[in-house]
Parts: sequence; C-alpha cells; structure tokens
Amino acid sequence: MSEALRMSNIVKRFGSLTALDNAELIVNKGEIHSLLGENGAGKTTLMKILYGIHPKDEGEICLNGTLCQINSPKEAINAGISMVFQHFMLVDNLSVMENIILGKEETKWGILSYKKSREKVMELSHKLGLKVRPDMLVEDIPVGEKQRVEIIKALYRGAETIILDEPTAVLTPPEVAELFEMLKALKNEGKTIIIITHKLKETLAIADNVTVLRNGKNMGTISTKKATPEILAQMMVGRSVILQAVKEPTVKGPVVLEAKDLCLQDALKNINFTLKKGEILGVAGVEGNGQTELLEALTGLVTPDMGSIYLKGEDITKHSVKQRIREGIGFIPEDRNDRGIVPSFCNWQNAILGYQSNYQNRGVLDFKKINAVSKEILDTYQVKTEGIAAKTASLSGGNAQKLLLGRVFYHDSDVLVIAHPTRGVDVGAIEYLHKEILNMAKRGKAILLVSADLDEIRQLSDRIVVLYEGSLVYETQALSTTEKELGMYMAGAFNKDESKVVGL
Ligand SMILES: Nc1ncnc2c1ncn2[C@@H]1O[C@H](COP(=O)(O)OP(=O)(O)O)[C@@H](O)[C@H]1O
Ligand SMILES: [Mg+2]
Repeated sequence: MSEALRMSNIVKRFGSLTALDNAELIVNKGEIHSLLGENGAGKTTLMKILYGIHPKDEGEICLNGTLCQINSPKEAINAGISMVFQHFMLVDNLSVMENIILGKEETKWGILSYKKSREKVMELSHKLGLKVRPDMLVEDIPVGEKQRVEIIKALYRGAETIILDEPTAVLTPPEVAELFEMLKALKNEGKTIIIITHKLKETLAIADNVTVLRNGKNMGTISTKKATPEILAQMMVGRSVILQAVKEPTVKGPVVLEAKDLCLQDALKNINFTLKKGEILGVAGVEGNGQTELLEALTGLVTPDMGSIYLKGEDITKHSVKQRIREGIGFIPEDRNDRGIVPSFCNWQNAILGYQSNYQNRGVLDFKKINAVSKEILDTYQVKTEGIAAKTASLSGGNAQKLLLGRVFYHDSDVLVIAHPTRGVDVGAIEYLHKEILNMAKRGKAILLVSADLDEIRQLSDRIVVLYEGSLVYETQALSTTEKELGMYMAGAFNKDESKVVGL
C-alpha cells in the first residue's frame, strides 16, 4: 500500500503551550485511519496544520511521497485534502446544492452551468449512498444531512483525503451507523479517510489503523486488528483504565420517586415509573424522544399537562425547582454549560450554585464556609484546576463534569436525576464518574439515569426503560437484556399494540 501522507516531527506552540511535540502521522492510501486521543491531545491542531489553517513551528509534511508546504485551506484543497469540522461551515440560508458548488461552479463555454454542476453532485450522492435533498435550505435539514453535504462538498472539490473531526459527536446511533457505511463506501472508491475521535469503540468499528496522541506526542500507530479497547485506553491515558464499571448488587429500599401518567403536549405520553432507594433506573433512548421534557418535568422547569410526580409519597408536581432541590432531589442537567454550570463563574461559585441558601447568614454569604466546601468538592472529586478562584471555563469537559457531579453529590439528596453524565468526557474521567455514580447507589440514593449511551445505561442500571416517541415502550432488568434488543425498541422496531420487538 502506498503512503498518502506522512507528517513527521511536527511541533506547534501556542504561546507557552506546546500543543504538538514531535507528533507523527503516517496514513496509507485508501485506508480509514483513526486519530485517537483525549480532549486536548492535539488531534484537531495536527489536522488544522495539514489543512493549512495553522502554520507549524517545526516538522515536515509529505503527500504521496513528496515534500509539501501547505499554507492555506485553498492549497490543501488543491492538493486533494478536505476537512469536515465539528461545527459545519455551511451557509445556512443557501440551498444544499448552492453550498456544495459554491466557489467551484461548473462552466460551459465560460458560462455557469448549473445543470452540469447538479448532475455531478447527484452522481456523487447516488454512487456513495450520501442521501441529500439538493433544493432544501441548509438551515432546514438535520445535522446528519448537513454532514453528508460537507462530505459531498469535499468530493466535489476532488478530495482524495478527507479529514473528519469528531463526526459522530452530533449524531444519533442510527446516524452513526449510516455514516460508517458511507465511509466504507468512500474507502472502496479508493479515498483516504482520517477520522478524529476520542471513542475507542468507534475506532475499532471503522478504522484500519489508529494513531494515538497524548499531550501532543505520538503514542504509536497500530492496526485495529491487533488493538483492544484496553490497549487503546492505556495508550490514550497512560495508565490502565477500567472500561467496564464493576457493579455490585445494592440493597433496594422502598419507592422514593414515582411518576404517574405524566403527559406533556406531544412530548410525553402517560409516563409511569417507580424508583426505589438504592436503585439505578436507566432511561434509554435516542435523543429527542422526550428525554429533555421528562427531565424538565422532573426538575420542575415545566409543569406537566396531566399526571403527577411523587417524592416519598408526597405530590411534588407543582413544586418549583428550588423547592425540589431542598426536598432532596439533586439534578445533573443534560446541558452542562447551559443549565449545569456557568462557565464565566469561578469554581467556588459553581460549586454552590443552586445551594446558595445553605451558605447564607442573614442574607450574607458565608465565605469561610464556601471556601472550605468548594475546596473539599474539588479535592474529593479530583477536579483538575488551579483552584477555587479559577474560572470554570478554563476546565476541560471532564473536569467541569466532575465539578458538577461533585456539587450535587456533596449536597446529599435522596434522589439523583442524572442526564448524560459522560457526554464529551474522556475515558479516564468516565471511569471515575461511573464509579462515583455506582457509589451513590450503594449509599442508598435512588438514581434516575438518562443517557443516549447504551453501554453506559447497561453498565450502571439495575432496571432499564426505553423512551420512544414520548412513551416508555419497554421495561427490563439490565441483566436480562441485550444491546440488540434495546436498540430495536429505541429505533421503534416493535409492534406498538403488543409492545413486542418485531423481528427477534
Ligand atoms: N488556537 C489556539 N490557541 C491556543 N491554544 C490552542 C488553540 N487551539 C488549540 N489549543 C490548545 O492546544 C491543545 C490541543 O488542542 P486540540 O488540538 O484542540 O486538541 P484535541 O482536538 O485533541 O481535543 C489544547 O491544550 C488546546 O487548548
Ligand atoms: Mg479536537
């Protein structure tokens, strides 16, 4: 196999920070190559250098065996390299077709030929199974389709090597499967794909070879045939990581939280569940099936149209968010930066957010107590930061999540409603967060865990319910179900009348 790309001894500094320290990446023509590493490892920076966005401080780039200088994305595109970013670069108020051909319209005798461009786009779309609707405005199409538009745009520009930066972060599980099929089709066409990810499972599912970066350094390149999740995690984190949380049986007590016939517009349809002391109930489902509304109804951000919520037998349906927190429900919200923490606040402010009344003396904040408590939270929950006065915005995703979890866990509640606790978080931090959640159950907390990550749901829960189009369509013990079975319910592939999975 010939070499499409060789980046060697790449050094990149941002001020005093060395983002890349003699990094190396060798990619064969026609392969899918995963660039794996934790947040901040330097993956995006390395690819931005290849794509001509950042100049490198040192090092060499060879394309197809020839030493190259790439000084701008335009030069990269001319060299056959395209990059699809995490945040798409499409123009919202133009159509799909216009976006694809923008700046590279076909001409016929010097005149723009829209028809010719369109034919070329549709041919690419059909050949590779990249389904797009050419006349839709980009602002009206779902993210999965926007991503396909970006890929076609790259191909339309003659890309031989396509770089995708964390392409699955915005996708639902079925969309991820679709994307992977498309990437395989591209590979069969002889294209070279570099996929940036921090997910081990994805790397193993799609890539031929994987290069691991840690702190800007190359930790090696191996074939995925020889790789295991354990080997890759060790390379990423630099120590062995327990990937499978060890769940011990816990003692279940009486029901502490109960939902009866909850209805909310079209979003929630007669939701019923009970949650016992010491139990973890997992709510599985593809995002957008009512999770947000269920969480809002439980938090008190919205009042359900019908039905009731009981906390230890007391009807709390009409209680405010504040009341519920005081009555003993702790919330880890789904959008960490929107509802969970205020990034522009200091760590100590975020450490007590929502619990300020515990730290007031006749209306005056008790800073001695706040300092002591926030220090304790940062220490106990292993938050890596400069201290309680540092801005939370400077924390990595994993550390911000540890702070959030720490705040809620520290302020002892009987019930914990936890949403997507490890979304966008590194493997090392996931191991830790999972352990802490299991610990809380062991200490007798009743935990409702809402997550789109099936592995997470299956590893942590005692019991699992599946939320599909606003209804709980299935309930099972975690130990007596499979990923396939849950996946079928999540995708709606069951007979609604009997609520039985079809085709099993
Ligand atoms: N434009 C920039 N200015 C300053 N620092 C940056 C910039 N881009 C990235 N960094 C820093 O470089 C390091 C590597 O970042 P990045 O390449 O984005 O990591 P990854 O994509 O692996 O998560 C991080 O410490 C990040 O904060
Ligand atoms: Mg990145």
